[in-house]
Order: sequence, then structure tokens, then C-alpha cells
Amino acid sequence: MASAAPQVLTSWIYAIWALQGRHSALHAAGPDASNIEWLFWVIFFIILAAFILVILGFARAAARTYTSAREMLPIVHDKEGDRRAVWAVGSAITVTVLALFAVLVLSVITGKKVEGLTSKNPVTIQVTGHQWWWEVIYPNAQADQTVTTANEIHVPVGKPVVILTNSADVIHSFWAPSVHGKRDLLPGYSSAFWIQIDQPGRYRGQCAEFCGMQHAHMGFSVIAESDSEFAAWKAQQLKPAPEPTNADAARGREVFLTHACVMCHTIRGTDAGSRIGPDLTHLASRQMIAAETLPNTRGALAGWIIDPQRIKPGNHMAPNPLQPDDLQALLTYLQTLQ
Ligand code: CUA
Repeated sequence: MASAAPQVLTSWIYAIWALQGRHSALHAAGPDASNIEWLFWVIFFIILAAFILVILGFARAAARTYTSAREMLPIVHDKEGDRRAVWAVGSAITVTVLALFAVLVLSVITGKKVEGLTSKNPVTIQVTGHQWWWEVIYPNAQADQTVTTANEIHVPVGKPVVILTNSADVIHSFWAPSVHGKRDLLPGYSSAFWIQIDQPGRYRGQCAEFCGMQHAHMGFSVIAESDSEFAAWKAQQLKPAPEPTNADAARGREVFLTHACVMCHTIRGTDAGSRIGPDLTHLASRQMIAAETLPNTRGALAGWIIDPQRIKPGNHMAPNPLQPDDLQALLTYLQTLQ
């Protein structure tokens, strides 16, 4: 036991250090996450104090009551000892109840603070959970000013943002640990919450409610950038897909429109308009594909198109056994969709 103590201590220190990394509730990037992190540390130190007190109590009791195994203990009536035991247990219960009550009050206060963001004219983003990806829409009263993308959520840094949630199938949970606590996405039920990110960067998020076979591969990113970068990104996303500029890309577009791709995906500016799978109009502007499962490289894209069931078994995309020339042309076209 004594020899294991240093390892236990070092693994604790390592765990705390690792959790300080970029994508954790202990690396708050905005006011909501800071409030949640603060509550975590309060509870952590209360629990640490309780742990140390219990261990000290055990050690003291063990040191005092040691007797040889053969020696029979006489039964004695120790009134003074009984009185002290009652007092000790009573005060331990009192301290426990007070500590739990304090945690309850602090939790409610933190919950209120996390709900406290507000703004007159916020950026509004509709996030819809699908098995197993995230549909991201920046709604606008004018349909041609509405941005639709998937899995990568751009927000302006330092500004309150409203996230409207819904689910297309089962319950998912939206969780970007550096940004906010978990929020469940319920089918047929819209809700809303606010986020704000004060440090520019790319923050990883993950579905946090078991939602079927590929729950673990239902990631997303929140990208916080300056106002000008955000405006430029949005302006680019509003454009329809660029026209192919060479024969290879033109053939790739033809492959897209004459194979199964067109059954599920939208590429604005073409005849492809299905909403079953992610909108691919600006696919090449995204860093990752398949809900943060693969980097958006030509090779990964090829593997995903040919055999998505090998990469995410059970997902709703069918295999596409394309001829090599067709596949290469399709990849060339998809890579022009900036
Ligand atoms: Cu969606 Cu787990």
C-alpha cells in the first residue's frame, strides 16, 4: 500500500495536467465554461478534504486499536467513550450535510450564471443532431442568406451566440467541454442556450449521449475567430458551389450527379438538393470529414466514399464502388468546393 502511494499521486498529477489540455472542462475558453470549471474545483477540494479526513481517521483508529489476534478483548462499558463516539458521528454527519448543502447552493448559482449570457442581436445557429453527424444552419429570414454546413461551427470570438437545438432521430448531447456544459438534443423538441468563446481557436466537441453504433464517432468542432474572419467565412459559405474550371472537375461533377451521392447530399448551384446527409457545397473548406473522424484529405475522402461502412460501421452512407477514373474525377471536383 505504502509503495503504491507515489504512483497514485503521480497518476493524479498527470491526470490533472492532461485535463488542462485544450479540449477539456478544465481549459475554459469562455464565461460559461469558466463558471463550470470554478464549480468543479470547489467540489474537487471539498472531496479532497473529505478524503484526507477519512484516511486520517482510519489511520488513527488503526494505530490505537491494534491487538494481537489471539488476545480476547474484554467487553467493557465505557460511557465516556460512547459519549465521544456519538459526538464524533454527529459532527461528521453535520459537516457532511452542510458540505452537500453548500455544493447544492453553489450548483444553483453556477447554473444561473451559465444561463446569464444575453445580447440584442446575437449570432444564431441551429444545430440538429443526426445519427451520426451534426447539421449546422445559420438561419436567416431570406433563404439565400442562410448558411448550411456540417460538423464545423464557426463563431465570432467574444460575442454571445445562441445555439438552437433539435434532433432528427434519437437523443444526442452537444458537448464542447471548453465552451459549455452538456446539452441534450431531443427529437421533436427545440431548445436554446447561449455560448461565448473569448479565446480564438478550434475547440473539439463530442456527442455525449449514447445514440447508437457510431456515437463515439460523432464529433464536431467549434471554431472561434475574429469578426472579420467570421464574416469572410460566412460570405464564402453563402456562395453557391464554384463551376468546374477543368475537364476533370466537370467530369467529377457529372459522376456526383449520376451516382448515389445525389440521393442524399446537397451541392448548391447544382441539381443535387437532398437533405438526408451533410450539405457538401463547401466541403473542401472543412478540416475534417465524417463528423471529425477523418482529416479532409484526398486519400481519406476516397476511402470514405468507397467504403464508409468500414470506417464507421452502421452509418447511413452506402458504399460507392466507383470506377477508379470516376473516383479520381469525383475527388478532384469535391476538392474544388472551397
Ligand atoms: Cu449522438 Cu451520441
